[in-house]
Amino acid sequence: MLYLLKLVLIADILSHVYGEQITNESETCEELLDEELKEEIASYGPTRDKILKYVLEGEFKGRTFKELTKFINKFGGRLTGTENLENSIDYMINLTIKEDIHNITAETLKVPQWTRGKEEITMLKPRVKNMALIGLGNSVATPKDGITAEVVVVDSFEELEKVDAKGKIVVFNVHFTTYSETVKYRFEAATRAAGKGALASLVRSVTMFSIYSPHAGMQKYGNETKIPTAAITLEDANLLKRLYTAGEKIVINLKMLSKLDYNTSRNTLVDIIGRENPEKIVIVSGHIDSWDNGEGAMDDGGGLMISWAVPVILKKMNLEPRRTIRTIFWTAEEQQYVGAEAYEKKHRHEEKNINFALESDDGTFAPRGLQMLGTQKARCIVAEVLKLFKVINASTLIDTYVSATDINVFLERGVPGAGLLNDNGKYYWYHHTAGDTMDLMDEKSLDLCTAFWAAVSYIIADLSVDIPRNDTTS
Ligand SMILES: *[C@@H]1O[C@H](CO)[C@@H](O)[C@H](O)[C@H]1NC(C)=O
Ligand SMILES: *[C@@H]1O[C@H](CO)[C@@H](O)[C@H](O)[C@H]1NC(C)=O
Ligand SMILES: *[C@@H]1O[C@H](CO)[C@@H](O)[C@H](O)[C@H]1NC(C)=O
Ligand SMILES: *[C@@H]1O[C@H](CO)[C@@H](O)[C@H](O)[C@H]1NC(C)=O
Ligand SMILES: *[C@@H]1O[C@H](CO)[C@@H](O)[C@H](O)[C@H]1NC(C)=O
Ligand SMILES: *[C@@H]1O[C@H](CO)[C@@H](O)[C@H](O)[C@H]1NC(C)=O
Ligand SMILES: *[C@@H]1O[C@H](CO)[C@@H](O)[C@H](O)[C@H]1NC(C)=O
Ligand SMILES: [Zn+2]
Repeated sequence: MLYLLKLVLIADILSHVYGEQITNESETCEELLDEELKEEIASYGPTRDKILKYVLEGEFKGRTFKELTKFINKFGGRLTGTENLENSIDYMINLTIKEDIHNITAETLKVPQWTRGKEEITMLKPRVKNMALIGLGNSVATPKDGITAEVVVVDSFEELEKVDAKGKIVVFNVHFTTYSETVKYRFEAATRAAGKGALASLVRSVTMFSIYSPHAGMQKYGNETKIPTAAITLEDANLLKRLYTAGEKIVINLKMLSKLDYNTSRNTLVDIIGRENPEKIVIVSGHIDSWDNGEGAMDDGGGLMISWAVPVILKKMNLEPRRTIRTIFWTAEEQQYVGAEAYEKKHRHEEKNINFALESDDGTFAPRGLQMLGTQKARCIVAEVLKLFKVINASTLIDTYVSATDINVFLERGVPGAGLLNDNGKYYWYHHTAGDTMDLMDEKSLDLCTAFWAAVSYIIADLSVDIPRNDTTS
């Protein structure tokens, strides 16, 4: 999951919870939804039951976990620009064809091919310590012998303005508040520090918890000189802060032998063609690429596999929705939605046909409902659909979309959409670390997510009414 500047404020907007809780706005939904539509939505109860039964107790039980295990065992981390990622895309295409689904399109696009190379960081003064680090996406390299410089530690961009960073290595020791707030520092550290004449930047990992684990992630250079930039652990950020506050002179040697090139990759589209309105599309998605330090099981192997399961289940159950359900395995999400941006550009002429966009990229722990962006009418319709999922405790609609991932590209343009809300309280403990492995995944939770994902997308794609767009956006 990534970060998008424009979404930072959304976390602060008052959120309205539908479904389980009755709020003022659900009274407004009373006005916005007529009885006929409510009855129509309620009439999907038997279909919901069939899908839940098939996935939770029937033939599909355990399948998501089994397929994800095989996939992660085979490919592990899938960094954009690697042959391994391309092989994993071929594998998913083959897996889909084996289910007798043939409407598959792979769309090629240009992607960054960043090679991490050797990375080392050693504190030389006031004492010698080799530290853990992870270079941030697209970072430039240091000279072969590294950069040796004195360290300044700051707690914010404001504080950076007050110190002399010229010729130094700047450590941004910013404590986690929310992901979207804190990740700004990872994203802009290099550019801000370079603006003050620094030689390199180091960022406290974007997490609230650590067992000495550095967290990877993307960063973006601005107009300033490109300087090397990496993440360090919470423990070392705290150590450096203590030493700095005590007035010690800290000297660090930072070595990063990364390389940036370009290559191609592919978004994969799997269509279940709509029986009445094939031109109208409901997107159901996850991203197939991951960072290279972990195995990309949680981010976003789970989201990938529950989205893969949707057309497979609908086909097996002979469920043909009114509109087309387009499952997308996005590529190069971690490089700042490179795949989604390319798709949006290529398909802009048919964008009015995207009826709803779903993505799971915040974990696939026990499902709780959806986090959504859209007009109030759109939210009322989806909240009504979610009432059908009280039976699996997944009926909550949160009226914010704080996730930063591919579908933001569409939400920004007025397309209504949602992310999977799930019990992901520990998501950022593991996010973009070597700890993102199959061990985090749970068979039962994956089944619940798959069942929910398939049933919700089917019902939304099959309703007699479209989910309205936000037409006030340009
Ligand atoms: C909305 O909810 C608030 C807080 O519960 C309450 O004070 C207010 O009277 C409600 N307004 C309406 C129109 O129901
Ligand atoms: C580009 O990617 C393809 C497929 O992964 C690979 O075979 C090829 O070697 C790559 N090209 C470069 C210049 O790395
Ligand atoms: C996918 O299937 C093709 C055709 O059967 C095969 O040549 C290829 O090796 C398969 N790729 C993967 C990654 O499984
Ligand atoms: C794929 O979908 C298109 C309609 O969008 C249809 O014309 C075509 O026959 C389908 N192909 C397969 C192999 O199902
Ligand atoms: C980068 O520089 C160009 C040209 O000077 C300027 O127009 C642009 O606004 C700058 N962008 C940023 C992010 O500072
Ligand atoms: C619709 O889009 C406009 C412009 O981006 C935005 O200000 C507004 O909050 C959006 N409304 C909803 C309900 O999403
Ligand atoms: C939903 O919550 C109820 C009450 O806490 C519990 O008994 C039930 O097992 C839960 N169902 C699922 C699928 O988690
Ligand atoms: Zn992700």
